[in-house]
Amino acid sequence: RKNLWWLSTGSKNLDSILGGGLESQSVIEFAGPYGSGKTQIAHQACVNLQCPERIIADEKLKEEILDNPKAVYIDTEGTFRPERIIEMAEAIGLDGKEVLKNIKVARAYNSDMQMLYAEKVEELIQKGENIRLVIVDSLTSTFRTEYTGRGKLAERQQKLGRHMATLNKLADLYNCVVLVTNQVAARPDAIFGPAEQAIGGHIVGHAATFRVFLKKTKGDKRLARLYDSPYLPDAETTFRITEKGVHD
Ligand code: GTP
Ligand code: MG
Repeated sequence: RKNLWWLSTGSKNLDSILGGGLESQSVIEFAGPYGSGKTQIAHQACVNLQCPERIIADEKLKEEILDNPKAVYIDTEGTFRPERIIEMAEAIGLDGKEVLKNIKVARAYNSDMQMLYAEKVEELIQKGENIRLVIVDSLTSTFRTEYTGRGKLAERQQKLGRHMATLNKLADLYNCVVLVTNQVAARPDAIFGPAEQAIGGHIVGHAATFRVFLKKTKGDKRLARLYDSPYLPDAETTFRITEKGVHD
């Protein structure tokens, strides 16, 4: 793959297990239980896109990325918080209101809206918007509530597969970072549950390039584990979530 670039998560530790940061041309899944920090990571990524020091790319490409870059935030749970964006932005010396202007938030109330918004991103790009980050927070919650029971499983997996294909296409074709979140139950018997426990198991697993499992530990500390990556070893690290945002 040519012209790869990386968007920092805000944590050097986390960037390091990811091989440099959130990699373009890939779909990166953050999975974990309630409160593990998935939405915070998504917010921080939107802020970091406006920070030149947090974009790793060769010079010419970096210039293109920094030409009024925009993030699309598909919010299925109503957890996008403008005030939190402002707080994170100001913590790294950016103008919070300016950062907010460059995030297009789309509230999706069901899986059809969610899928449609993802498809619409391509039109925005073709109209000339420099969209470099696409977030789906959460990838699976609408599917989980709409397709319950065994009888609906095949249909759910099929739609989720189509949605993931749309996201992968955006990432590949337009050199974007795509970040998705996926809530999975905490397991008392293991630090990290097996990948297939995540909703959408096989479908998401095969369609995401990077999968990171998050876990809350003491205080503001979080554990992150990269697993099943096609070309990076499984690895574990820690980071923190404080009023400043996501950092080591
Ligand atoms: P679900 O969406 O419920 O599955 O959880 P999540 O993984 O998205 O969790 P989220 O990213 O919302 O993280 C919640 C945790 O982040 C909270 O328990 C807090 O520890 C921390 N957090 C969230 N917002 C703030 C904030 O404004 N300030 C600070 N200091 N911490 C926050
Ligand atoms: Mg969340």
